[in-house]
Amino acid sequence: MLCIGHRGAMGHAPENTLKSIAKALELGAPWVEVDVYPVEGHLVVIHDNRLERTTNGSGYVWEKTFSYLRTLDAGQGEKIPTLEEVLDLVSERAGINIELKLPGTAAWVVKVIQDRIRTHWDANNFLVSSFNHHEIAAVRQLDDRIRIGALIAGIPLEYALFAQKLAAYSVHQSIEFVSREFITDAHDRNLKVFVYTVNHPEDIARMDALGVDGVFTNYPDRVLSFLESKSDPRPR
Ligand code: G3P
Ligand code: MG
Repeated sequence: MLCIGHRGAMGHAPENTLKSIAKALELGAPWVEVDVYPVEGHLVVIHDNRLERTTNGSGYVWEKTFSYLRTLDAGQGEKIPTLEEVLDLVSERAGINIELKLPGTAAWVVKVIQDRIRTHWDANNFLVSSFNHHEIAAVRQLDDRIRIGALIAGIPLEYALFAQKLAAYSVHQSIEFVSREFITDAHDRNLKVFVYTVNHPEDIARMDALGVDGVFTNYPDRVLSFLESKSDPRPR
């Protein structure tokens, strides 16, 4: 089961900041997830469409200038990072799942990833996801080397068929809706199942028992120690 640090390691540091990404890497997360918005040609790393919850700013992200956003405190003195800064920090030490929050982001993210692939990053270090399936379809259309993940929070009548139609690598299901039927259907369609957001130790064990392929977690340490204890059956 793959451990994906949600917004870095947001249980330990301000979400979607370089501090949070560094913490996830320090804890040993093999993958990290971040959320991005396009602003004046930059991809800024933040979750909400408004600034109030995670910064000392206010208003919608998309109505701000890039230079204004960079003056804000995103927690513990951290700036809102750019995707480029996150990639520089990760520096191929982990895979990165980039979640697109707005329509019109695909071309920007493809450009950033292509620049890295040109400098010899492995394309499989990237996974681009969105609840907006038109956006990830556009990513695949622009460059079919880039894997896409289809986000969902529900159980469609035809289970994971929508993700197969997208030629997705993975389907990212909410913990509220994950079921054995959904997982089996996705696996039969050759899709990985990654579940968000899995923080409680009981849920970590439950997801593992269900056979999901990965979990997004605010606490990579919890998932990694569960996996370690599983591979080492000696009493602790
Ligand atoms: O990508 C998994 C998860 O992050 C999706 O939901 O709202 O946390 O971006 P959200
Ligand atoms: Mg996200």
